[in-house]
Amino acid sequence: MESTPTSDPALLEKVTNLAKRRGFIFQSAEIYGGFRSTYDYGPLGVNMLRNVKQAWWRTMVQGRTDVVGLDAAILGPPAVWAASGHLETFTDPLVDCKKCKERWREDKIDGVCPNCGSTEFTEPRAFNLMFKTQAGPVEGDGATAYLRPETAQGMFTNFANVLATTRKRPPFGIAQIGKSFRNEITPQNFVFRTREFEQMEMEYFVAPVEADEWYRYWVQARYDWYLDLGIPEQSLRLHEHAPEDLSHYSRATTDVEFAFPWGWDELEGIANRGDYDLTQHSNASGTKLEYFDQATGERYTPYVIEPAAGATRAMMAFLLAAYHEDVVEGESRTVLRLDWRLAPHQVAVLPLSKKPELESVSREVLAALQPHFMCDYDVTQSIGRRYRRQDEVGTPYCVTVDFDTLEDRAVTVRDRDTTAQVRVAIDDLLTTIRTRSGTS
Ligand code: GAP
Repeated sequence: MESTPTSDPALLEKVTNLAKRRGFIFQSAEIYGGFRSTYDYGPLGVNMLRNVKQAWWRTMVQGRTDVVGLDAAILGPPAVWAASGHLETFTDPLVDCKKCKERWREDKIDGVCPNCGSTEFTEPRAFNLMFKTQAGPVEGDGATAYLRPETAQGMFTNFANVLATTRKRPPFGIAQIGKSFRNEITPQNFVFRTREFEQMEMEYFVAPVEADEWYRYWVQARYDWYLDLGIPEQSLRLHEHAPEDLSHYSRATTDVEFAFPWGWDELEGIANRGDYDLTQHSNASGTKLEYFDQATGERYTPYVIEPAAGATRAMMAFLLAAYHEDVVEGESRTVLRLDWRLAPHQVAVLPLSKKPELESVSREVLAALQPHFMCDYDVTQSIGRRYRRQDEVGTPYCVTVDFDTLEDRAVTVRDRDTTAQVRVAIDDLLTTIRTRSGTS
């Protein structure tokens, strides 16, 4: 008996509960009653979120010669956001319910107040989603700063720096992972839409004539990334935006969508931004952001293809897709079938008992594995219950150290998905786990 993301309406609650109970994601400032729409990533969640970001970095930067990394500032001056268009257009339509006074994003409520059912609202007004703050001890316009609502602008404002220091030439990309902030009117669905979140964005600069080809390339590459990390094909689809739905900067956009429990929704957007950003920043800053091709003698403003993903949103999709309930040896269990690369712990070392004679060999096994894998070490409760606990948080392999280990210097390796167990010599353990997980 298996559940899928599309067929189980209770899935969101099950995953939210599991995330809290097992230390993936906590409500922020919970001891003070919580702070709406902000979350803290606990001991398992921080590992998994890092793994999501690491998987992205490996694919988008480490595995390529045409993409370099960047880590730009979160705080930015108004000039950046004026040039990017965010000061003027990064708004959502805000309405007040005339009856209960709750505020809503007009395009998300289907004409009925989700709080009291009233259909009477104020006229929509444009609400800017950027968080505004003061930099330094002086108040006033000169000190105004904004928390970035996307990581993308750092790549555009550093275009000339990167070009000069790396000697890259189009087609090439600049990639960044980091926090972004949006004062969302209706944050919702756990970490799907929050006011503070993490993005994984790449700006790929190309010759204008090649833009469409590279756009199609990145749409496919980004779709394949989610498939490769374990999102089933039936839970993933591409949705190309109609021309009237495009953002102010976009010539074409395709979303990678996931079958969330509430329906299809965006995981990532891939946009052809044309020369909008470099032209805007060139005009506003007075610094020419162009490329001069010495071979052809041609000077041009590159077009930008942008795959823009959410790290926290992707983590949520990976959790939802991995969640399964099945029956093993007559007992029901919850198992997170997370890809090996995303699991918070790859291996758990489990001494069969707390007896001291098992401790030293167990520590020896742990020490052999820790430089290579994120490991858990658990001596509490019965071995059956410990297996269930590891299944529930997606640990692909449990390594059990028992009294025979003292004689034969071998351990039992249990596979999370099949629950099959094999006896492996300690000396062969590293190679065995590497081979089985496909990382050798
Ligand atoms: N630079 C383009 C850009 O930021 P976006 O579609 O607004 O495009 C890209 O954001 C991705 O960032 C989204 O597909 C989503 O995964 C994530 N994201 C955006 N707003 C978010 C929010 N409030 N909470 C969580 N993730 C968000």
